[in-house]
Amino acid sequence: MIIEPEDKKSDRITTVSIQDMKTNSNVHKECVSCQVIYGDARAILSSLPQKVDLIVTSPPYADARKKHYESMHPDAYPEWFATFHESFWRTLKPGGSLVINIKDKVVDGVRHRYVWKTIEKLCELGWYAVDDYIWHKTNPMPGFWKTKFRDGWEYCFHLAKAKEPYMNQAAVKVPLGDWAEPRLANLTGKSAARHNSENNSGFGRDLRKWVGKKEVLPSNVLSLPLVGKNYEHPAVFPVGLPAFFIKLLCPQNGLVVDPFGGSGSTGVAALQLGRNAILTDNNKEYCISAVKRIRREAEVLWGRVVPVNFKILDRDDVEQGSSKISIPK
Ligand SMILES: C[S@@+](CC[C@H](N)C(=O)[O-])C[C@H]1O[C@@H](n2cnc3c(N)ncnc32)[C@H](O)[C@@H]1O
Repeated sequence: MIIEPEDKKSDRITTVSIQDMKTNSNVHKECVSCQVIYGDARAILSSLPQKVDLIVTSPPYADARKKHYESMHPDAYPEWFATFHESFWRTLKPGGSLVINIKDKVVDGVRHRYVWKTIEKLCELGWYAVDDYIWHKTNPMPGFWKTKFRDGWEYCFHLAKAKEPYMNQAAVKVPLGDWAEPRLANLTGKSAARHNSENNSGFGRDLRKWVGKKEVLPSNVLSLPLVGKNYEHPAVFPVGLPAFFIKLLCPQNGLVVDPFGGSGSTGVAALQLGRNAILTDNNKEYCISAVKRIRREAEVLWGRVVPVNFKILDRDDVEQGSSKISIPK
């Protein structure tokens, strides 16, 4: 049964919990939960204990979707984003990671580098830039521009509190591919031994290492199509994007946070993968839509009705660090 929050217009915090003992064999049996909390991410995250394994998110891009939600001028963006740093840092475990999906912007016909500046700013504040991933959009929007082409990719920056954060690389391995069998069947000449680079750069490869292997590590380019559905939100990213980082950077039963939760994509990914999630958004309508979406998609996944409980928290509960925000053990 869905119980709608009775007072959509009030200034109270809306928390929605989904709790379910999963029984379907293709998902995990543990009890995982997802909460969507309406309010400013900084205030809510500041009230959480240091139990978060992964923050994976797509913040508002500079000067974008102004009709829909708050958005900064690119020049002011690094300083604005830095106001989230403290709450992100304090809630993440020492081995935790922060993944930011973002894209730079064309201003006066040329690329504005506010995203690079934002990452530099975060590094000055103590974050390690572990790797830069590219989300390759397999279906970029058509259009014509004088000096550029269709935008076919976005950044995903992997930042962390430690140089070697928690990582389960085995969880994201991909099949070695069809090329491997014929190529590795008859290794002769240079291929049959370690082959050092011709210019003594120190690089080399040893194809023998891959004989008999079925899987390899993926590249840091993630190919995923743009989301066609609207989900009552103007900037939805594909569930596969947070899902990749959740598998890699959050252990089973761990806790994932998306501070800019939007339509709830990260919540869907976390529940699908047997991780707990807390999503925040400072737009109440988006929170309500996200809850409905997560519930709907969880139902499809688990094949039966998922009990959904709505809890209304007072803003004070969040600001003072509430026991009513249930943190998974
Ligand atoms: C790019 S959208 C995220 C979309 C999301 N990844 C999805 O798949 O639906 C950014 C979201 O951040 C929210 N937002 C902006 N400022 C915020 C703040 N200070 N605290 C919490 N949420 C905020 C906006 O309402 C918007 O829904």
